[in-house]
Amino acid sequence: MCGIVGVLGTHEVAPILVEALRRLEYRGYDSAGIATVHDGHLERRRAVGKLVNLSDLLVHEPLRGKSGIGHTRWATHGAPTADNAHPHKAGPVAVVHNGIIENYKDLRAELEAAGLSPETETDTETVALLAQHYMARGTPAVEAAMATIDRLEGAFALAFLFDGEEDLMVAARKGSPLAIGHGDGEMYVGSDAIALAPMTDRVTYLEEGDRAVLTRDTVEIRDEAGRRVNREMRRIRMDAARVDKGGYKHFMAKEIAEQPSVMSAALSAYLTDTGIALPDPGIDFARVERLVMVACGTAYYACFTAKYWFEKLAGLPVEVDIASEFRYREPPVLPGTSALFVSQSGETADTLAALRYCRDKADAIYSVINVPESSIARESDLALPIHAGAEIGVASTKAFTCQLTVLLLLALKAAEARGRLDPEARDEILTALRAMPGTFNTALGRDEVIEAAAQQLAEARDILFLGRGLMYPLALEGALKLKEISYIHAEAYASGELKHGPIALVDSNVPVIVMAPKDSLFEKTVSNMQEVMARGGRVCLVTDAAGAAAAGDEVWKTVVLPDVPEVLTPLLYALPAQLLAYHTAVAKGTDVDQPRNLAKSVTVE
Ligand code: F6R
Repeated sequence: MCGIVGVLGTHEVAPILVEALRRLEYRGYDSAGIATVHDGHLERRRAVGKLVNLSDLLVHEPLRGKSGIGHTRWATHGAPTADNAHPHKAGPVAVVHNGIIENYKDLRAELEAAGLSPETETDTETVALLAQHYMARGTPAVEAAMATIDRLEGAFALAFLFDGEEDLMVAARKGSPLAIGHGDGEMYVGSDAIALAPMTDRVTYLEEGDRAVLTRDTVEIRDEAGRRVNREMRRIRMDAARVDKGGYKHFMAKEIAEQPSVMSAALSAYLTDTGIALPDPGIDFARVERLVMVACGTAYYACFTAKYWFEKLAGLPVEVDIASEFRYREPPVLPGTSALFVSQSGETADTLAALRYCRDKADAIYSVINVPESSIARESDLALPIHAGAEIGVASTKAFTCQLTVLLLLALKAAEARGRLDPEARDEILTALRAMPGTFNTALGRDEVIEAAAQQLAEARDILFLGRGLMYPLALEGALKLKEISYIHAEAYASGELKHGPIALVDSNVPVIVMAPKDSLFEKTVSNMQEVMARGGRVCLVTDAAGAAAAGDEVWKTVVLPDVPEVLTPLLYALPAQLLAYHTAVAKGTDVDQPRNLAKSVTVE
């Protein structure tokens, strides 16, 4: 959460910083700010709310200078006010920060005792004050920044700028990602390569504990122990770093529409003429006795879906858990256990902590990620990219279906290795899977029906989602998607659980969305649906042609999807769940791509 950027440039830097922040706004949008050094003086501008407010402020109060740092905030410590907005400044130091300084209260008390007065409620201001404190005692800027970083506990990506130093920036990372961009006579830092893409495609990712001293022509990287280290410079793919809506009204709409093509990319990364190929060192599923899968939010629902696949197809016992619970529960990890972490960003703090908990306990650590350079990927024995491309909309869509794709391939691989799937059955599934991008296109073509249903759903205060078997995790994902972008209260239940309590909620005001292809469990779901309709509930059924014919005409709305083998239904049914949420949010006029209180990359607990 929060995005940071820094530029030592050769042109006026304010517009460059604002453009980089625009590309980072998905990480938080509670406030934004920039600081520059001009004629030797640090100056800053900050504004509450979205970046556009900062841009407006800069029109009236421009900021000159060719060196600068910028920040877009997702508030943790201190309300989203202008005072709490970054950059934080103390005397000759300005700082931007992503993460949480856990020992800031102790540091603050120490600084207050030394006569310094904090002006904000933030943990970050302490960082600036500490550096100021060291500089006031005569420590040069770089050493003062290093001494400050040494004192910090918690997670941080930091960039420092100093009064009187127009060709100097210090950056550091611990627990939050940070990339250095190399230009021609210019140098940059950014929370991710996307922010830096308009400036350069040459990027060095700092490693855990690294600090960097930058000038326009040089970068010196030191590790946590202060030793000089070399970190590889890579070229990033510029197409992966494109951030535009491509003619769509919202990133979310674009990303939903991209699913046929990104799913093709995910499939071609793992499918060969002869079957499923994993990158080295692969996974020997025959030796895996059980799998623990851990993630957060949508990625957790992808894991939950995969549990059904691994267990049914491969007979492999799977435990799934929410990372924030798993990491503190101290669950025993028995010999024979492999651990699999799923994360779009690869930086989610709880998922990373859960991975580290498993490091010495599990036989192997695997991850399914969208960002190959991410911390979770780098700390895994094998990281499997989902090839979804940059996902900017805060609500995850294409990453979810790509996660499902890779997880299904893994389950099939496991089934093969464990002798549970004969080649014919496997090929049948793979053939249908290869055809899925086309099937996705057909499903996306049902958009109008879904939009019409959404117009009415937008008037509801509460909505229930029901699903059984493979549709249960998907119902949970549908409810999450709807609540996060439309702010309508939505809950999902396993259909069979309905009469154990939630049916008390049902009346004519509560639409019930039932996800039910005509699969082996359809009849059971239909019974639950009848129970809802008998109590005046309005059912919106998402099904296939056979399901629609069998469901009867009491159903309020029906969305009919193409037929696919049962095992593939979660992939296909994700699309109407996303579209329902999207159109409902649009009908309500909410901020689809940047819903309130949320941020894309949750790098704090
Ligand atoms: C919901 C959503 C979140 C993320 C969750 C995990 O639409 O996007 O629930 O799925 O924050 O994020 P990653 O996958 O980056 O670990």
